Amino acid sequence: MKIPKLKIGSITADIPIVQGAMGVRVSLSSLASAVAEEGGIGTISSIGLGDIEASKREYERMSREALEKEIRKAKTMTNGHIAVNFMGVLSNVDDLITTAVKEGIKMIVYGAGLPIKLPGLVEDSSVSLLPIISSSRVAELILRVWDKRYERTADAIILEGPLAGGHLGFSEEQLNHPEKYSLDNLLPEVLETVKVYEDKYGKKIPVIAAGGIFNGKDIARMLSLGASGVQMATRFVCTVECDVSQEFKQSYLDVKEEDIVIIKSPVGMPGRAINNRFLKDLEVKGKHKIKCPYRCLTVCKVDKAKYCIALALVNSYFGDVDHGLIFCGQNAYRIDKIVTIKELIYDLLAELEAA
Ligand SMILES: Cc1cc2nc3c(=O)[nH]c(=O)nc-3n(C[C@H](O)[C@H](O)[C@H](O)COP(=O)(O)O)c2cc1C
Repeated sequence: MKIPKLKIGSITADIPIVQGAMGVRVSLSSLASAVAEEGGIGTISSIGLGDIEASKREYERMSREALEKEIRKAKTMTNGHIAVNFMGVLSNVDDLITTAVKEGIKMIVYGAGLPIKLPGLVEDSSVSLLPIISSSRVAELILRVWDKRYERTADAIILEGPLAGGHLGFSEEQLNHPEKYSLDNLLPEVLETVKVYEDKYGKKIPVIAAGGIFNGKDIARMLSLGASGVQMATRFVCTVECDVSQEFKQSYLDVKEEDIVIIKSPVGMPGRAINNRFLKDLEVKGKHKIKCPYRCLTVCKVDKAKYCIALALVNSYFGDVDHGLIFCGQNAYRIDKIVTIKELIYDLLAELEAA
């Protein structure tokens, strides 16, 4: 089998694999550039790069400068394709997007919030816009509004199913029925929604499937169902190049299936994480102290939040996992070793060909 390429706007990736963004600081220039070097699309996470103890002005400036630095670093490491991911709930999201575009990024991935105004912010049509959605209803809403307001459509859609890591676009009730909302069920609906806009704009809008995709066989299944590519994140954590601490990676190697749980995040969405010491302590104490000089999230209700999610994720990044939150996908327990990106991509492609 010839491995299909993944074309998004003006770029063509040699392999149909996107490394999903992982915040906070789990996917930075090292991981993203290594994936891009192997022919995939590497995604830098723009989230939580500033010093959360800093004042408002300092936080924004530090976040902006840190993002510039990661993008520039990635570009020194690869000529491959690099995307940057943004969360709609960030209070400095517009500033970060403008920064990425100024730095020459050609793919803007937007999740955790509706990217209704995104085409107004990024008018350059050579910059591809990739909304993350979890239902055909939300895909239709975004595409309809973009069409009406901006006469523009998405350059690709990332469909994230219920087995993904990090924040999830499903209610807790929906997450109790993952089979009903499986990618196999959601994908045909999303393809149908997208088709209307493909016809109208006379271009392909690739749909990229994400959430629980673990091996080449899974990739083959998604491609056979009509996805143009897949986005994977959890599999990329236990790699030499992944930017996060060794302790974070070790938590993935140690985790058992029953220790992967759904949490209520201060972001206001459910999330999937490892039930570690931090979460167990929280259960006993009910709340961790919060100091919030900079409101990094528009939606976080500081007086009601049980902990500062930015601090909890930064702690894990630095290796203090007992005081930190560790996001992971449902299949994290299946990972048993740390490999290089080259080895991982080689295995995935061999399995894909075999399948
Ligand atoms: C540790 C971790 C952090 C994540 N952080 C983000 C994020 O900041 N923004 C985002 O859009 N998705 C985030 N995700 C979701 C991934 O980008 C990806 O779509 C999803 O996890 C795919 O499922 P998989 O992990 O089973 O491959 C995160 C996932 C993980 C595992």
